[in-house]
Amino acid sequence: MAIVPIYLIPTIYYRLPNIQQPMHQTKEDLQSKTGKYQTPKQFAWWQKGVVYEIYIRSFKDSNGDGIGDLRGIIEKLDYLDWLGIEAVWITPFYPSPMKDFGYDVSDYTGIEPMFGTMNDFEELIREAHRRDMKVIMDVVPNHTSDQHPWFLESKSSHNNPKSDWYLWHDPAPDGGPPNNWLSVLGGTGWEWVEERGQYYHHAFLIEQPDLNLRNPEVMDAILDAFRFWLDKGVDGFRVDVMWHLIKDEQWRDNPANPDYQSGMPTYDQFSPVYSTDQPEIHDVVAQFRQLLDKYGDKVLIGEMYLPVDKVVKYYGANNQGAHLPGNFQLLLIDWDARKIALEIDKYEAILPTDAWPNWVFSNHDRPRVATRYGKEQARVAAMLLLTLRGTPTLYYGDELGMQNVPIPEEEVKDPQGLLMPGLGLSRDPQRTPMQWDASDNAGFTTENPWMRLSEQYAEENVSTQQQDPASMLSLYRQLLQLRRAEPALHTGDYTPVPAHDPIIAYIRSAGETRLIVVLNFGNEPAAFTPERMELKGTIILQTRNGQKGEKINGSIQLHGNEGVIIRLD
Ligand code: GLC
Repeated sequence: MAIVPIYLIPTIYYRLPNIQQPMHQTKEDLQSKTGKYQTPKQFAWWQKGVVYEIYIRSFKDSNGDGIGDLRGIIEKLDYLDWLGIEAVWITPFYPSPMKDFGYDVSDYTGIEPMFGTMNDFEELIREAHRRDMKVIMDVVPNHTSDQHPWFLESKSSHNNPKSDWYLWHDPAPDGGPPNNWLSVLGGTGWEWVEERGQYYHHAFLIEQPDLNLRNPEVMDAILDAFRFWLDKGVDGFRVDVMWHLIKDEQWRDNPANPDYQSGMPTYDQFSPVYSTDQPEIHDVVAQFRQLLDKYGDKVLIGEMYLPVDKVVKYYGANNQGAHLPGNFQLLLIDWDARKIALEIDKYEAILPTDAWPNWVFSNHDRPRVATRYGKEQARVAAMLLLTLRGTPTLYYGDELGMQNVPIPEEEVKDPQGLLMPGLGLSRDPQRTPMQWDASDNAGFTTENPWMRLSEQYAEENVSTQQQDPASMLSLYRQLLQLRRAEPALHTGDYTPVPAHDPIIAYIRSAGETRLIVVLNFGNEPAAFTPERMELKGTIILQTRNGQKGEKINGSIQLHGNEGVIIRLD
């Protein structure tokens, strides 16, 4: 496992600003290719829509302190609406000492002043909802900041009311840490506290003590915080490190990882079988879900760095767990056509009945898509992400083809980079400011940005790319508009089509519509002639310059790094 960190109310109205879509399908529409009638299905917004991750520090600064904020997001909602986004997930903006840039929360129901005020947040919710856009909050129930009043109380003595709110343990007989659990961000996962004469467990930083979610009082306090934001109108939660929430009750040592090699993150020395993915986590997730369900059409997303057969368990019994347990397979595997095709088919095959798929290609913890696969393949990746069956999550700036920005060693801010130097693990390069225009600081801020900007921002920015029909941004927008207009793409069936390297092909279908997606993962031209179907239709989008209209009959010759969507006759 790579350790580098990291729903159903019928929707009557589906937002389609430019394109009219019939609200109900006719009986003929519902007759599938197999001749069977299917029950009309209603899909929720989080199934049809696309989620866009905003790393708040780097999206848009509204007050000139060099750090992105809530008002900056409000300023850019029209852009996201223009692009075709249904929901934004915003990384944490709670009060925080910022040791892990907001994932160390010191008050679950407040707003960090550098990001704005509660009024700003309420305005953001109103302004997003006015545009039929949803707001998903990041929640961090696994750990708090060591400055959270709960922890300060808990660490003060053995017998305070919150003494059992965190994972406290006596030392091992030799006085050392109780077991071999490590911190994901480097080093031991235990910290000694003199006042208690005990260690506490921290799966991440020392300044991020893990909560004891086996304690019902802690669960109630977390659920109260969730209620606070749900009452304010948030549309769902992305649960940070969901697979970490409960640890082994017997505190057993993790076994050595036989695949560990030097150069890997220190955390990978052991397989975290006792410190993560415990069966009791599913009860915790089910309680989160029950609360959300009381509020109606909400979404529960889980961060999930696990093999896919384990990820799907987080849908819960009878799909009463997370709506979208994060599927990060394509974030982690090699960019190889056959491996990817296999991974897609495997995931489709093991999804529980009625579980909704999802795809994540990029986030604030992993190198950007355009850096991993190159700028040209990033266009193919965009077409793959936005045409697979299930909810896609986009990471801000990927729509511009933003790449990781090299950050000189003396400027590294990410604790992961600082604690494990020399392994290339700093997450700063994928967290650089959004490139809005060619003005100073890319229009991100009027003052010094908190993090170095890409040197390419003068050419690579929203404003320039909006004018260029062949830009990455134009491709993303076309894909997003097409996905929205075509039920085959946003909710249709998925059928793989056999293909040879370096091509992946699949059909997305709904009613009479059949769209075949053909992607060339290589940089050389490649031909595609399907053996068991007639390839006859019209190209409706291709990745090179967005052109359409070309008729296809029998086979297609793709350019290197090219993907096409063909409407089959
Ligand atoms: C998640 C976040 C990551 C953070 C970690 C600890 O993996 O995505 O940024 O460092 O949790 O909260």
